[in-house]
Amino acid sequence: MAGTSSSSKIVYFVVIPLILLSGIIVILNQKPSSAYSWPTFHNSLNSRFKLPRGRHSVAEKTSGAAATAAASPAVAAVEDQLPVVENEGTIITAEFRKNYSNLEMVEARLARARAIIQETERNNETSYDPDYVPTGSIYRNPNAFHRSYLEMEKELKIYVYEDGEPPLFHYSTSLGILGIEGILIHQIEISKFRTKDPRNAHVYFVPISVQSIATYAYVKHNRAWTPLQDIARDYVNLISTKYPYWNRTLGRDHFILGCHDWTPTVSHGVPLLYKNSIRVLCNANTSEGFKPSTDVSMPEIYLPDGTMDGLIGGPPPSARSILVFYAGGVHGYIRQVLMEQWKNNKDHDVQIHEYLPKDMSYYGMFRKSKYCICPSGWEVASPRMVEAIYMGCVPVLLKDHYAKPFDDVLDWSTFSVDVQVSEIPDLKNILMAIPQERYVEMQKMGIRVRRHFEVNFPPKRFDVFHMILHSIWLRRINIQLHETHES
Ligand SMILES: *[C@@H]1O[C@H](CO)[C@@H](O)[C@H](O)[C@H]1NC(C)=O
Ligand SMILES: *[C@@H]1O[C@H](CO)[C@@H](O)[C@H](O)[C@H]1NC(C)=O
Ligand SMILES: *[C@@H]1O[C@H](CO)[C@@H](O)[C@H](O)[C@H]1NC(C)=O
Ligand SMILES: *[C@@H]1O[C@H](CO)[C@@H](O)[C@H](O)[C@H]1NC(C)=O
Repeated sequence: MAGTSSSSKIVYFVVIPLILLSGIIVILNQKPSSAYSWPTFHNSLNSRFKLPRGRHSVAEKTSGAAATAAASPAVAAVEDQLPVVENEGTIITAEFRKNYSNLEMVEARLARARAIIQETERNNETSYDPDYVPTGSIYRNPNAFHRSYLEMEKELKIYVYEDGEPPLFHYSTSLGILGIEGILIHQIEISKFRTKDPRNAHVYFVPISVQSIATYAYVKHNRAWTPLQDIARDYVNLISTKYPYWNRTLGRDHFILGCHDWTPTVSHGVPLLYKNSIRVLCNANTSEGFKPSTDVSMPEIYLPDGTMDGLIGGPPPSARSILVFYAGGVHGYIRQVLMEQWKNNKDHDVQIHEYLPKDMSYYGMFRKSKYCICPSGWEVASPRMVEAIYMGCVPVLLKDHYAKPFDDVLDWSTFSVDVQVSEIPDLKNILMAIPQERYVEMQKMGIRVRRHFEVNFPPKRFDVFHMILHSIWLRRINIQLHETHES
């Protein structure tokens, strides 16, 4: 991070991009206990890094530390010791294999990937790509992201536990506003990133579906969480007894994925899952235990017909006559404030409705408006954010405690507007005060960022499926794991 321009400072304001800068965060939010001893070949690396706490102190430390990380003899040693690994993970040269556990081998490969990403970041190198090269201000660091993405494509292996039967496991509905849960679970199960050999996996997928649990196991009006949490707890007990991988890291290289708003609560019933594992959640409420450094915020995406047909695209800024649009139920306190302030106003510019007037088309309004309000409802996420991005309307995020998806990679300020709940009375003035050129630029950036929110069957490079995997990958390369016992 040589020339610290103001734009590169933005990078500092989020904890996660530090992965790209600093490489190593030692087990987050927790002091390494004496039960956890680092494999010896990591020691000289570890001593260079302190557990990051505050954002600024981390940023200050990393600029120097990052420069030494890749050049460190430890990383070089790890590189030398790396076995040649074939595509399927078969180890060819294995002289030193007996001295390293599988986890250490996996860690060594991750250390290499980490060093390559740091190198790219430091030298501001672009990488070749036949399909797409990330560039421009929508990215916090386009070159480092691209390199990290390419390393993910090359390296990432996901093991999916095979135990459990649909519908509670390995399945979730792909329809409705939570459909992204079923789509992504299915896409992971059939993905080329899936490995059948758990010994070579970087991450382990715990294939629970909270949406299915809520549908099939929830007894109506019985507001008891325990039976639902028990399903998750029993599953984790099963895999942690039957296989060595959970106990090895106490779940830190395991992940769950859920769009249902009960997913955080269900995961809360399994202490290590809640505390250690990577939780991919739509309900990314930082006030309810969502940790941006270990958890992944997943966009809520509603595909009425099960595909993106008819959703993508909208007219240019010049054809958008309405300033701002919202229509939807008054769920939760934020929408209540919004409605109290704006519902019955006669201003043509500000179209805020609880019920969409009969002569208006919902998606038509997204296409006629410059800005679309995406307020939190019962939970922080809502499908409007992606609908706005699909249709070329600049999203106005009206949310408290929301961790935005892919915030580690994307600079949301280039294609969306944040409005605080306390600013609702000033909504119109705030939007009117944005200069036309700035609006046009944000609208253009929104179209460029769209590919990262698209849902394809089968998935395409850089789409939402790959962005979710990349988010998991970033969190995985950001920690070094070690076993709780000698193996
Ligand atoms: C691996 O372990 C064996 C004994 O178990 C030892 O003789 C050998 O020197 C070790 N090799 C390395 C590279 O540490
Ligand atoms: C990094 O390289 C890109 C082109 O590849 C260039 O536009 C950008 O200004 C460079 N950034 C820095 C900080 O040198
Ligand atoms: C993992 O730890 C639990 C609790 O300590 C234990 O019951 C279980 O048998 C362990 N699993 C394995 C595979 O050793
Ligand atoms: C986020 O969590 C806080 C704390 O539990 C809660 O008060 C708030 O309502 C939640 N936000 C939404 C939109 O659910």
